Amino acid sequence: METITSDIAIIGAGGAGLRAAIAIAQADPGLRIALISKVYPMRSHTCAAEGGAAGVIKSDDSLEQHFNDTVGGGDWLCDQDAVDILVQEAPKELLQLEHWGCPWSRETDGSVAVRPFGGMKKQRTWFAADKTGFHILHTLFQTSLQFPSITRYDEFYATELLVDDGCCQGLTAIEMRSGQIRQFRARAVIVAGGGAGRMFPFTTNGAIKTGDGMALAYRAGVPLKDMEFVQYHPTGLPSTGTLLTEACRGEGGVLLNKQGRRFLQDYGMGPETPLGKPVLKTMELGPRDRLSQAFWHEQKKGNMVATEWGDAMLLDMRHLGEKKINERLPLVRDMSISYMGVDPVRDPVPVRPVVHYMMGGIHTDIRAATPLAGLYAAGECACVSINGANRLGSNSLTELLVFGRRAALSAMEYLASGSARGNAQAIDARAESARGQVRALFQRSGGGESIAGLRKAMMHTLEQHAGIYRSGEGLTEACATLATLRRRYANIELHDKTNVYNTDLLQALELGSMLDCAEAVAVSALERRESRGAHQRLDCPERDDARFLKHSLAHYQGEAAPRISYGEVVITKSQPGVRDYSGGHA
Ligand code: FUM
Repeated sequence: METITSDIAIIGAGGAGLRAAIAIAQADPGLRIALISKVYPMRSHTCAAEGGAAGVIKSDDSLEQHFNDTVGGGDWLCDQDAVDILVQEAPKELLQLEHWGCPWSRETDGSVAVRPFGGMKKQRTWFAADKTGFHILHTLFQTSLQFPSITRYDEFYATELLVDDGCCQGLTAIEMRSGQIRQFRARAVIVAGGGAGRMFPFTTNGAIKTGDGMALAYRAGVPLKDMEFVQYHPTGLPSTGTLLTEACRGEGGVLLNKQGRRFLQDYGMGPETPLGKPVLKTMELGPRDRLSQAFWHEQKKGNMVATEWGDAMLLDMRHLGEKKINERLPLVRDMSISYMGVDPVRDPVPVRPVVHYMMGGIHTDIRAATPLAGLYAAGECACVSINGANRLGSNSLTELLVFGRRAALSAMEYLASGSARGNAQAIDARAESARGQVRALFQRSGGGESIAGLRKAMMHTLEQHAGIYRSGEGLTEACATLATLRRRYANIELHDKTNVYNTDLLQALELGSMLDCAEAVAVSALERRESRGAHQRLDCPERDDARFLKHSLAHYQGEAAPRISYGEVVITKSQPGVRDYSGGHA
């Protein structure tokens, strides 16, 4: 097997992976970096982020307010030391992007413009029209090109982390264009593989977001933290699940039910505010969990609009006018016309909640270090945790910059400490065994399980039982079904037995990752007998700080269901309180 040796290997070349690679290359040009991604970097899902990145920049704002919004928005499940780091480093990272050429939108006086965003009680979301993720990714990608120490391995699918003597020493990956397995030796590995929204049928997530990075770490013995917290974004297009950014509401768009009522005022997010005025704290700029829950209740009351894709609410932006929509929300207009046949300049656009983001992920500390020596994680695949039980929109782009860089610096410190160890022969043997496991997939026959069939069943199970509202009974059923699906996965058959760009093989491996993550979601959700943030239990409707102000940790147990343990939440200065979004204007 071909072995590629570097000092630090990074899995994932989206925002977090690129930011980490740049930080290492800048700090020590002598370190060899292998940047491994299953897609070409500009196809990473960071590209799909629309609305913006949060960071304090205006004089009426403060780090303390960003901290408070984030911790309260997360229903006090955030680690407050991590949030402190986020809010302090956010402005520096966003300015750094400016210096690298990110075309942030501007105020008329030339200063960086910010817009209101959900749950943020001050305007602090930097944006580049409604294509912020594209511009951030492009800025990072073009910056990365100047460093010869970064070697890219595009279209390589990581299959296993190589661990010996308690240290992560590299990984194996399939080179898609040849189908060959390569061994990547490295003294430290950073996982930046993104989220797992594709476990659900209706999601804003691109097809690549299949939880591969999470599953790699999980199977290597690193727990997945807070997996029960799955974020629904309130406004996806019913036809495709495509995101209509929160910026639509940040710019003044409103949500209506079929009677034309701004129904959020009936769900603790009033009072109703005048159209066309930037409004904070209330109504359409409440946090995502609350808005999605309000939709669920209105739907139960029969107040939603029927569309050919199911019930929807209406996002009305007509009062913003064509000029503003073209300037601030050009992609939104384009997508609404293309995918729904509705021009927001002339008509309200039907939207509904859609799975958007995993608050949970690979357990890390504030150094982005996992409990496995030599393994670091950052971005959506990681749970550090700044998002707690409900992420505020625009904190994730900032998170991947801040913690992507921190993962890089921590990995470098680890290298400098000289504590990386592992027996070369033992690692070779593990790589051979990893190759054997992939090849074994080609040999399987007679089992008759189809990838599409199992994937559909998994998606349906999660949608039915692990959605906006959950119950103990439903989650018990979900756990049983997912356990069965994981058993049936042993009998999947590949129809394509060739080597070159074998998408059948890749989809089989992605399904394996998703099934492991899905089970971690369902079991963690069943065990959390309370309601907090995005995890709402109809049978346990109250938040229970006495028993559950804790991080859940799902431990991989092979064929058996994960074992759940709990870890302390770091509380430094904000004691758990009541989340109040009923106030007036900012
Ligand atoms: O609505 C949005 O633009 C999404 C932003 C985010 O998830 O941070």
